[in-house]
Amino acid sequence: MTKDAITITGLKKTYAPSAKSPAKDALKGVDLTIPRGSIFGLLGPNGAGKSTMINIMAGLVIKSAGNVNIWGFDQDKNPRQSRAAIGVMPQELVLDPFFTPRGALDVQAGLYGVPKRQRKTDEILELIGLTDKADAYARSLSGGMRRRLLLGKALVHSPQILVLDEPTAGVDIELRNMLWRNVRRLNEERGMTIILTTHYLEEAQEMCDEIAIINHGELITRDTTANLLGRVSAKTMIITPTTPTDAPPMPAGITAERRGDRLALTYDQTQVTAETALDALRAANIHIKDLRTEEADLEEVFLALTSSA
Ligand SMILES: Nc1ncnc2c1ncn2[C@@H]1O[C@H](COP(=O)(O)OP(=O)(O)OP(=O)(O)O)[C@@H](O)[C@H]1O
Ligand SMILES: [Mg+2]
Repeated sequence: MTKDAITITGLKKTYAPSAKSPAKDALKGVDLTIPRGSIFGLLGPNGAGKSTMINIMAGLVIKSAGNVNIWGFDQDKNPRQSRAAIGVMPQELVLDPFFTPRGALDVQAGLYGVPKRQRKTDEILELIGLTDKADAYARSLSGGMRRRLLLGKALVHSPQILVLDEPTAGVDIELRNMLWRNVRRLNEERGMTIILTTHYLEEAQEMCDEIAIINHGELITRDTTANLLGRVSAKTMIITPTTPTDAPPMPAGITAERRGDRLALTYDQTQVTAETALDALRAANIHIKDLRTEEADLEEVFLALTSSA
């Protein structure tokens, strides 16, 4: 039994040409493994191929070549088991306007063959905050509520893997926070593996243990979020000394600069530790009233990796 939630090898997808557009190589041979129990981010610019990959995992799009293994089941050899292991909240809002949330969840559970006694409709309604809308027509739900219902539908068969394709696009802050709280709970309490795409890089940085970046149908990088952030190696420590002072001499690898009442120490964090910088301050008899660091963020890494391609 593999330790991976998903193993993808040599995955290709060419969309057939239409009257309006030529054939499109949306995925050009992607290899990717996603570990069990992780919160995994799939990032990339518009048109990179993220939804294509997710929809192939979900069995909604037919791949052109390659292998997809879900929870130890080959998608081609064991379609039923591999489908049962994954729940997908799609990017597009696809809901039948004449179903109520309760009805939609029931139909979905039926599609997955979940016996009536084992259905967790009320629990899911609670989780997605739609208990008081349980019996309203879907067409009377707001956009954010519809998104939450899509999340609920992805959960009816208690999958081991939950895939969220831009769950927070156009969703207000409160709802976004609620969504992430719930997703984190599913990950922590039930050990559910979470795969998500988002264009909010702050979200990815905060939520994801590991991240893959794809562009033009190719995998550019895959690493832990910490390592990705570490690739932007310049780090700045902003010190407020108890008494304002000029920049003291610093050891090799650290530059110090006075910024008003503060001192800015910049160093390459792969070469120098924060301790070295602090020791140098102490040696110069500078006492620290306050300290903060300016971190690299995922946005810098993302732009560096995707803008040249
Ligand atoms: N059904 C389709 N028929 C033809 N081409 C398609 C189809 N779906 C997607 N494509 C093309 O495949 C490429 C990848 O699209 P995909 O939706 O996977 O990108 P994405 O990374 O999810 O982008 P976004 O961030 O905008 O959601 C794009 O060039 C897109 O135009
Ligand atoms: Mg997409």
